[in-house]
Amino acid sequence: MKIKKNLHCILITHLLCVIAGSQKYKSDIKYPLIFVPGIKESILEAKLNNALVEQKKCIKNTNNYFILWINTQFYKTNSTICMDEYLTLLYNNKTRTTSNTPGVNIEVPEFGKRPRAIEFQSSDVTVEDDLNDITEMLVKLGYRIGYSLRGAPYDFRKGPNEHTTYFNKLKLLIEETYTTNGNKSVIMLVRSMGALMSGTFLRRQTQEWKDKYIKSLVSISGDWGGAVGRLITYTDGVQFGKYTLRSFSTFPSISWILPHPFIWNPYEVFVETPSKNYSLSNLKDYFVDINYEVGWELYQDIYPDVEKDPIPLGVELHCIYGYGIPTIRKIYYGKGAFPNKPPVLIKGDGDGTVNKQSLSACAYWIKLQTQPIHLVPMKGSNHTFISRTNSTLEYIKNLVT
Ligand SMILES: *[C@@H]1O[C@H](CO)[C@@H](O)[C@H](O)[C@H]1NC(C)=O
Ligand SMILES: *[C@@H]1O[C@H](CO)[C@@H](O)[C@H](O)[C@H]1NC(C)=O
Ligand SMILES: *[C@@H]1O[C@H](CO)[C@@H](O)[C@H](O)[C@H]1NC(C)=O
Ligand SMILES: *[C@@H]1O[C@H](CO)[C@@H](O)[C@H](O)[C@H]1NC(C)=O
Ligand SMILES: *[C@@H]1O[C@H](CO)[C@@H](O)[C@H](O)[C@H]1NC(C)=O
Ligand SMILES: *[C@@H]1O[C@H](CO)[C@@H](O)[C@H](O)[C@H]1NC(C)=O
Repeated sequence: MKIKKNLHCILITHLLCVIAGSQKYKSDIKYPLIFVPGIKESILEAKLNNALVEQKKCIKNTNNYFILWINTQFYKTNSTICMDEYLTLLYNNKTRTTSNTPGVNIEVPEFGKRPRAIEFQSSDVTVEDDLNDITEMLVKLGYRIGYSLRGAPYDFRKGPNEHTTYFNKLKLLIEETYTTNGNKSVIMLVRSMGALMSGTFLRRQTQEWKDKYIKSLVSISGDWGGAVGRLITYTDGVQFGKYTLRSFSTFPSISWILPHPFIWNPYEVFVETPSKNYSLSNLKDYFVDINYEVGWELYQDIYPDVEKDPIPLGVELHCIYGYGIPTIRKIYYGKGAFPNKPPVLIKGDGDGTVNKQSLSACAYWIKLQTQPIHLVPMKGSNHTFISRTNSTLEYIKNLVT
């Protein structure tokens, strides 16, 4: 059969050839797979047109799009500060939306194509493509990149309130992938913040649609309930090798991954200082006291989605997560240290980045939906490396074969 198709292929046009070629893969796999990335696996491209940047050493114009996040060159040329400037979002408190720095155009490349992350290594910063192993395994099992294995990247800086277009595109991608793979329902494979993204997406679809198009959702280190550690983004930035990225405070997505009230007590203290403690109940005071009130505005914009956390997703869930690794659970400031001096980080259980109660928050919906929910804890696996462990690969292999 295959030989016959290939011969046929030579005789007809290229387009028909591609269609004929893809047909033979239809029966090879059980469920097509769509990947929704987290922050680290996302790629952004930028093109500069008189970019309004403060640093003299940062270029202001480019003829073409170049990779902005994550780009090795900025690091190698000691100009990470430029990457930081280009990534910064400006907030408009009238439209309640964010926009790029003037003169910086940003695009998300390769929607529907290979799930991937940029991989690079330099003296003190390593960024690994933690999807490589999963992708390679799936390809060996008969998956075809861009056809039965597809990425659904998005601008990771923005929150759900600014992702209406993305959610529409994702819906079409799922429907198209279902159809072109012979009416096979899709497994959504999601990573880190991709869990919140897909949760919001699924809550916006009808049950009928989900029953038809979604086989299940598999999350790897999904931060379903946010992470306490993200609070220090506003005071200490995000460490990127030797350099501290400041732009992250301007991202609505960061306010989205602060601790979520459906799993955390509103009075649980996240930031302790000698004169005042901060919890979800007085989060506004936190932003006022660190002198970053935009942070409070951003939080209010994403809050309507945070409020929907208790609503179950209505699809079968497999929540794979690591635990047993010290993870920030409280940020403590000694006398006179808040907010400008380094805090003491008090650790609890988690995967090193996200707290255990957030990673295991899928359990919250067990009694609220009929579709099964599987918790898959893996002791000692950290937030990133878990996607490369044999246990994770085996688990995914069993789901798709
Ligand atoms: C990189 O930049 C920092 C701060 O601007 C400077 O202190 C450092 O010496 C630079 N390193 C190199 C290798 O140029
Ligand atoms: C919006 O921002 C401007 C400038 O920072 C400020 O003066 C104004 O009070 C803000 N408006 C609202 C509604 O927050
Ligand atoms: C997929 O479903 C459509 C609509 O129900 C149908 O027309 C088509 O034949 C189906 N294709 C396969 C391969 O089952
Ligand atoms: C802050 O919280 C700690 C325990 O979480 C408590 O011991 C302390 O008294 C609180 N401080 C203030 C100022 O409320
Ligand atoms: C995660 O675990 C891997 C494997 O044990 C280790 O090589 C890596 O350094 C860890 N990453 C972090 C951030 O701890
Ligand atoms: C993972 O599996 C490979 C091949 O089966 C094996 O060589 C390797 O030792 C395993 N690694 C671990 C950490 O179990």
